[in-house]
Amino acid sequence: MKTVAVYSTKGGVGKTTAAVNLAWQASRECRVLLWDLDPQGASTYVLNVKARVKGGVDSLIRGKTEMDAAIRSTAYANLDVLPADETYRRLELALDAAKKSTQRFAKMLESVSDHYDVVILDCPPGASLVATNALHAADLAVVPLVPSPLSLRSLAQVNEIIEVSDRPPKVFAFLSMVDRRKLVHRSAAELLPQEHPQVIDIVVPATVVIERMGAERAPIGAYAPGSEAARVFAQLWDYVRSSSKVKRGSL
Ligand SMILES: Nc1ncnc2c1ncn2[C@@H]1O[C@H](COP(=O)(O)OP(=O)(O)O)[C@@H](O)[C@H]1O
Ligand SMILES: [Mg+2]
Repeated sequence: MKTVAVYSTKGGVGKTTAAVNLAWQASRECRVLLWDLDPQGASTYVLNVKARVKGGVDSLIRGKTEMDAAIRSTAYANLDVLPADETYRRLELALDAAKKSTQRFAKMLESVSDHYDVVILDCPPGASLVATNALHAADLAVVPLVPSPLSLRSLAQVNEIIEVSDRPPKVFAFLSMVDRRKLVHRSAAELLPQEHPQVIDIVVPATVVIERMGAERAPIGAYAPGSEAARVFAQLWDYVRSSSKVKRGSL
């Protein structure tokens, strides 16, 4: 089982969008768990999963609720979700109270490692213990960058966190929400991959097709399979699969 954290210190950059679409794309060829770690529960909502965690997140972190009991299936084959509800606001505190508090997610995921080929972590923004846990558990961290002069700062912050980790994941970033009508966006999409080795040249466009995901409550590949956006997320999944060495076609 490989673990992929979709992470940035910033909010509103396209983490949930990438996590949901990567998870859906992955589920077409292997067994996938998407873990929604954000109390806003956006990926839980998009995949139409009931947002209640029995006993709350504290119980899950303490091991009183089994991971298996909290995981829900979705309308899509091979795609399960570990949903977030509002108790995830206490996740930071719950982790802080746990033994080996930076390694808790990794430990919890061990219990489902026979059931899934890939776990995708939809991380909340911030550089807290939640982030440390996600990055410790991850084999690969995927960082969406919005095209702005400051965008590399959030990538630098990811690198700072993993610098002190005894189990650093591989890291790559991609440009998200790129509006090709804007010069700043076009030049960021062209220059960042050339100038920064961690930025790949897969670019997610800013489009209404992607914006519609919250209303459709479905992955883009399910409601707009022929769109450019669907194609780009398929490419992104190919890149993630080969970087994290998820076995191809393990179904
Ligand atoms: N490429 C895109 N084009 C248009 N809208 C987007 C795009 N990516 C994300 N959005 C919208 O921007 C908002 C934030 O995206 P989201 O994926 O939830 O970010 P995060 O998880 O980083 O907070 C959402 O309303 C989403 O629909
Ligand atoms: Mg999100």
